[in-house]
Amino acid sequence: MNDVAHSGFLLPARDRLIVTLGVIAGGAILLAFVHGLASGAVARSSMRNLWLVMHLVAVLPALPLGAYVLVRRKGDALHRMLGKLWAVLMLVAALSSFGLRGMTGSLSPIHLLSVVVLLMIPRGILLARRHRIEAHRRVMSLTYLGLAVAALFTLLPGRLLGSWLFS
Ligand code: HEM
Repeated sequence: MNDVAHSGFLLPARDRLIVTLGVIAGGAILLAFVHGLASGAVARSSMRNLWLVMHLVAVLPALPLGAYVLVRRKGDALHRMLGKLWAVLMLVAALSSFGLRGMTGSLSPIHLLSVVVLLMIPRGILLARRHRIEAHRRVMSLTYLGLAVAALFTLLPGRLLGSWLFS
């Protein structure tokens, strides 16, 4: 059996795995912040880049919010409201990333994920409007997976959060 009862509704095993990855990524990012604050690395980082501030303001709440939308009851008014908020945060995350040229000085392979997100979010919304619920669910889950993987990649040595974590 692929599904489990979860607080009175069903959560597919695939979504459980994706949410677990998101929770691990969120925990690791929190650890990076705490470690960076303690070591002084956060204070030494320049946060004057407006694109970076916009990017972080979008992605950091998107991680727990997306997990919550994935695990809670679907289809009600709160699902639609929180889902729209998450969609806006993901669009801001993807758009603001084009102002960031950290690793190579020009567009990097991660910008491909930004393009994918810019395509997936409108597609996911369109599928919901057409009541193609399983396809909507798959598109949104995979987009959340992209967010969780991108979050884990920010912890690599040489990237900003990685420098906070390993400082
Ligand atoms: C919680 C999730 C995320 C966090 C914490 C995060 C954080 C960051 C940070 C701190 C930077 C700039 C400094 C650096 O490269 O280390 C960055 C750059 C970037 N982010 Fe994110 N991000 C996240 C999710 C995403 C997502 C979902 C996308 C795509 C839609 C994305 C796309 C990019 C791109 C393309 C760059 C520029 C990479 C480069 O050229 O160096 N990020 N991110």
